[in-house]
Amino acid sequence: MNIILLGPPGAGKGTQAQRLVERLGMRQLSTGDMLRAAVKAGTPVGLKAKAVMEAGELVSDEIVSALISDELAAMGDSTGAIFDGYPRTEAQAVSLDGILEQHGRKLDHVIELGVDEDALVERITGRYTCAKCGKGYHDKFERPAKEGVCDKCGSTEFKRRPDDNEETVRTRMAEYRAKTAPILPFYEQRGIVSRVDGMAEMDAVTAAIEAILKG
Ligand code: AP5
Repeated sequence: MNIILLGPPGAGKGTQAQRLVERLGMRQLSTGDMLRAAVKAGTPVGLKAKAVMEAGELVSDEIVSALISDELAAMGDSTGAIFDGYPRTEAQAVSLDGILEQHGRKLDHVIELGVDEDALVERITGRYTCAKCGKGYHDKFERPAKEGVCDKCGSTEFKRRPDDNEETVRTRMAEYRAKTAPILPFYEQRGIVSRVDGMAEMDAVTAAIEAILKG
């Protein structure tokens, strides 16, 4: 199964993708994570992407589609893919069709996480992750069971993203409205779009997504 999680910054795409990976053995393909890894490693892609990401704008379609294509090529054919943060423009949606076809895959579901934009700033500015395993947390909504210790790997080091400040979040939301939301009709005409209330409790959002995947 191949699915897209679509929604503005902070909608819960990464949170839900991690849960589906754990529960269903699917693979999360997050272009944001791939780009952050490239920035950290100082690769040519990372050098191009760094300032764009810090400004909350979109990295070029060619760069992100190449990252997705490479990741899919390295994946086993039987593993389902969760596209998290990709596609984000109509050009990327067209590229994804071609990439999936090359790999003998097809898109099964596009799941849109509907959220109240005013709540997203609080979600994003309170977010942090384990520096070792990447598990996501939130100052208010998802704290580790033992304060300062990662539930998953026991690490005591955490980090926050440089683009998780209010000003950049507003730019990221504007980019979503202008460039990403308009790709929904592209998938709606195929009858594969489902909407989930992303403002519900995390477990309820996961249950709603799993119900869609089980058909
Ligand atoms: P990316 O990393 O994709 O960021 P994003 O789309 O802005 O999404 P986020 O990761 O901020 O949010 P999310 O929906 O995953 O929310 P999360 O689950 O963490 O992209 C970053 C940058 O990279 C872009 O700005 C761009 O520059 C570049 N880029 C990436 N892909 C690109 C592409 N395809 N094309 C061009 N450029 C690209 O949740 C947020 C917080 O809320 C968490 O703390 C979580 O615990 C909490 N939370 C989640 N769900 C709930 C809930 N139901 N109730 C309460 N709290 C919740």
